[in-house]
Amino acid sequence: MAFPFQIKSLSDYQQAYKHSVESPEKFWAGIAAHFKWKKKWDKTLEWNFDQPDVKWFVNGKLNITENCLDRHLRMSCDQPAIIWEPNDPEEHHRVLTYNELFFKVNQFANVLKNNGVKKGDRVCIYMGMVPELPVAMLACARVGAIHSVIFGGFSAQSIADRLFDAQAEFIITCDGAYRGAKDIPLKNTIDDALVGCRFVKRVIVLTRTHTPVSMIKGRDVWWEDEIKKVETQGNPPYAAEEMDAEDPLFILYTSGSTGKPKGVVHSSAGYMVYSTYTFVNVFQYEPGDVHFCTADIGWVTGHTYIVYSILCAGGTSLMFEGVPTWPDAGRFWDIVEKHKVNILYTAPTAIRSLMAYGTSPIVGKDLSSLKVLGTVGEPINEEAWRWYHEHIGKGNCPIVDTWWQTETGATMISNMAGVTPAKAGYATLPLPGIQPVLVDEKGVEIEGNDVSGNLCIRFPWPSIIRTTYGDHERCKLNYFTTYPGYYFTGDGCYRDENGFYRITGRVDDVLNVSGHRIGTAEVENAINMHTGVLESAVVGFPHDLKGQGIYAFVILEKMHENQDQTRLDLLQTVTRIIGPIARPDKVQFVTGLPKTRSGKIMRRILRKIAEGDLSNLGDISTLLEPMVVEDIKNGKV
Ligand code: WTA
Repeated sequence: MAFPFQIKSLSDYQQAYKHSVESPEKFWAGIAAHFKWKKKWDKTLEWNFDQPDVKWFVNGKLNITENCLDRHLRMSCDQPAIIWEPNDPEEHHRVLTYNELFFKVNQFANVLKNNGVKKGDRVCIYMGMVPELPVAMLACARVGAIHSVIFGGFSAQSIADRLFDAQAEFIITCDGAYRGAKDIPLKNTIDDALVGCRFVKRVIVLTRTHTPVSMIKGRDVWWEDEIKKVETQGNPPYAAEEMDAEDPLFILYTSGSTGKPKGVVHSSAGYMVYSTYTFVNVFQYEPGDVHFCTADIGWVTGHTYIVYSILCAGGTSLMFEGVPTWPDAGRFWDIVEKHKVNILYTAPTAIRSLMAYGTSPIVGKDLSSLKVLGTVGEPINEEAWRWYHEHIGKGNCPIVDTWWQTETGATMISNMAGVTPAKAGYATLPLPGIQPVLVDEKGVEIEGNDVSGNLCIRFPWPSIIRTTYGDHERCKLNYFTTYPGYYFTGDGCYRDENGFYRITGRVDDVLNVSGHRIGTAEVENAINMHTGVLESAVVGFPHDLKGQGIYAFVILEKMHENQDQTRLDLLQTVTRIIGPIARPDKVQFVTGLPKTRSGKIMRRILRKIAEGDLSNLGDISTLLEPMVVEDIKNGKV
């Protein structure tokens, strides 16, 4: 399809932006008209941020999969929808055309139906990066079930917490996953998670690694066997369920300031309209382009820019099963050359880790197909930006620095490739429909340029978070009460003299480790579960590759015991409770933590110590035991 809403010049952008702020309803109704609806909406927007209660395209009816698949069949049925590149370069890649993807999604929707999945049911998906993962997601959407994809790196305990929270009765998984040199035993981890989750009725297991797995009678079935049953039924098409615009499409868990991950809920219509709008405009996608987003589908970036937005736009999405450094650090560049990738979208942490190998893995690789580069997930340092620009983009590919969050569903602040200006380290300007505001600690808006503050959004956009699953109050408290009347992002931000935005990082107790959000409270909870631990405090510190590393200060019951072994045991506990992504980089055993007289841990001081800034700790006279700070400084690891 051609994209009638594609912005092609700076003045187009300025005009669209003005229109979107002056008449948001008209603006979004105009965009939404380009999608396939089963019934048109009655009213474009109803909202208040106090409840919060946001509804877009009220009473509209649709199924997002008809937008991702059915409507492309006439024009582009033989065009690749998904190109899949396996972990091992020796294995053949796979291409699913729109026709084939449509067929597979219908087939698997029938599998879901045969297994009792109904509209509104929650289905947990815990798979590696195989094409059956988007098939499973789209099949859920086709039958109207709400999927909750869990990143393959999460532990059994983390899965169990999420299954319980979502009361998910169905699970789709693989025997195992390949990632670099490792085989990851997904089904075994699910089995461990299910020990305490008796409400799970069905586990559908795809074969990928042929790892031995245990299959429980009456509960576990093989994907391949279930497909055969649908084949004997004659592969009937699956009539896409009619969904209300506001029916949830998916739940995606993310870390916040408290110990428990929250299930961010996205709607069907608003998410579809806004994510597609951003995809087409930010990347300046042209029909036929191959778009390679290197994220894992377990995170929001993969949901939005590997699956939903790109398929809604009829694009070609390249998905990669492996890691950038295996079998060697040239893997991304081989993929770009092999599949003639036009748009490469990755994270600063990946760029930094590849930079560390120098330019030899790039030499001799033909990267001339690249037109646009993108980055997401954390602030990009200037050095990484320049390297990406010079060595990958050869100086002539615009870099889009896309700022957004799980809760925002799609990109909020970003330049548009080649259309609006770029500036290293800056997400630059808000997309049409997005009204950023900087506020001070008291919530007073900071106007003008060359100012810093906490980043809020003043007006709803179509893919704003609707609720946190099962706990609406939590959604309100987290995002809408800190600064009444605004959605609060949790990020600090600087607006330069030209009005360009630069995200400076989280201002709450959330870390960003290799682009993954990790709440300090979650890590502390895991550490505190380890035997012999009395108390702990976790902060971030600057890390060359990961952006932020995790630094844990831990008080043990018995300080004199073998600390090296205890440290290793403790890391094992965190890996077991959350997963390897939350494993602290540094653990320092301490005798006390700096606390105020009311018992609150002064994280500011710990952060300074972890950063190595020992000279300027600020006022410590209000501490309960100021001496403890000296001890901690002396024991820094
Ligand atoms: C950070 C990922 C600077 C930010 C899409 C945000 C960024 C958090 C950028 C959301 C960027 C994301 N520049 N910081 N371009 N993109 N962030 O939910 O702190 O995994 O709040 O969503 O990542 O992480 P999440």
